[in-house]
Amino acid sequence: MPELIPVLSKNDINSLVTRTAQRISSDYRHHDLILIGVLKGAFVFLSDLVRCMDVSAQIDFIRAFSYGSGDSSSEDIRLTKGIELDIKNKDVLIVEDIVDTGLTLKYLIDYLKSYHPKSLKICAFIDKHERRKTDVAVDYCCYEAAEGFLVGYGLDYGEDYRYLSGIYRLKL
Ligand code: IMP
Ligand code: MG
Repeated sequence: MPELIPVLSKNDINSLVTRTAQRISSDYRHHDLILIGVLKGAFVFLSDLVRCMDVSAQIDFIRAFSYGSGDSSSEDIRLTKGIELDIKNKDVLIVEDIVDTGLTLKYLIDYLKSYHPKSLKICAFIDKHERRKTDVAVDYCCYEAAEGFLVGYGLDYGEDYRYLSGIYRLKL
């Protein structure tokens, strides 16, 4: 059995998400904001984030499948679920669980830009720098992690551990 090393507790997450939600709320006060969650990992973070915000926002989801398994990222990325809302001339915020190499995000940014949003920014629960391969910038980040494979709070390893309410480092 892999060992789980605690990184962030439920309380830590609550403070980090609240702070980020406040920043987003003040930046988007008079905007037509659309939050686009990246399935599956971001479903927990997005649901907490939106309930801590005090501005209105519409919500949509996209899903990208990266052909890699376990803890490896792949450069072969495909979109398996596109947007359903019309984002033309809207302020769009992509909500991701974790940015690692940045390749998924780069792909999603190019896809969403083709619909001509008024603005497009990135919010990630965790920004992990260790394996970054692109220059994508995360505009709103709750927590910066230097290294390791993290699970819990929506993040999985082989589809397990998403249900955990804290973040853990997986020691294989
Ligand atoms: P990318 O390498 O930035 O393209 O990340 C692709 C996806 O891999 C992320 O959206 C996550 O779903 C997943 N991922 C990357 N690092 C981790 C991690 O430490 N734990 C769990 N999932 C991860
Ligand atoms: Mg993801």
